[in-house]
Amino acid sequence: PRPIIIDCDPGHDDAVALLLALASPELEVLGITTTHGNVSLERTSRNALRIREFSGANVPVFSGAERPLLRDAISAEHVHGQTGLGGVTLPEPSRGLEPRRAAEFIVESVMARPGEVTLVPTGPLTNIALALRLEPRLAESVREIALMGGSSDHGNTTPAAEFNIYADPHAARIVFESGAPLRMFGLNVTHQVRSSPERVARVRAVPNRMGPVVAELLTIWNEEGGAALHDPCPVAYLIRPELFDLEPYFVEVDILEGPNFGRTVVDLTSVTGRPRNVQVAMRANAEGVFDLLTERLARYS
Ligand code: BDR
Ligand code: CA
Repeated sequence: PRPIIIDCDPGHDDAVALLLALASPELEVLGITTTHGNVSLERTSRNALRIREFSGANVPVFSGAERPLLRDAISAEHVHGQTGLGGVTLPEPSRGLEPRRAAEFIVESVMARPGEVTLVPTGPLTNIALALRLEPRLAESVREIALMGGSSDHGNTTPAAEFNIYADPHAARIVFESGAPLRMFGLNVTHQVRSSPERVARVRAVPNRMGPVVAELLTIWNEEGGAALHDPCPVAYLIRPELFDLEPYFVEVDILEGPNFGRTVVDLTSVTGRPRNVQVAMRANAEGVFDLLTERLARYS
């Protein structure tokens, strides 16, 4: 199995991404790291512990950055509810956080197995940027970074910017300029993977504790046209790469405060002539992603 670390801010769709990864034998989740994001670090960490408990998995959880590198913290309680998991109640955790911080764990794990470990960020990129600064050889030592964030077209937090990038554009800039192999699953592709009443019904019918809970997680968002399955996309890609089409582009993160603050500017027509630093997911097989999710949830005992 491919060793991965999921760096997240649960968050409904982060929760679904974790449950998908933890049920998949193709992946070995070395650890879960948490960041500020959808809700406060304290809450995203508590949610990660609850999700681990609910899954029955035995993976360590590390908390990381409490706030962005430079900008003021933002959060998205309006989307994910006060707790970050809307009305879904998961079991009280029986085990706590590990003593070390996320960035330290990331550095240690990657450097212990150079070229092997894949990072899967599904929240703001603060922890990943800190890890890159902490260990200058990290960028050349990760297998890849497959992240949910950004967009090749419009944003969801401002007209130009997607939430995870907007929540810490400076960290994102560090990651996109790092030279690490990057795969970006932005809104342009995650908006192709939407739940529908039929898809949610299939998830709900999974005959174990996952069915009703994940169905609930998928219906909390009130997006027009069905909730987009943002964070599960990079996880689904790592399990079944054929579900997505990726194309290499030069991508730059705008850190100038103004209308494009936090925008991932994707050079679709190669006008800059600059080296293509990111494999950008452009198309998804949405039905295939839901099939995979439903099949994997059914594996829980
Ligand atoms: C991203 O923002 C968060 O609210 C979601 O969890 C996802 O990671 C989508 O823009
Ligand atoms: Ca997220």
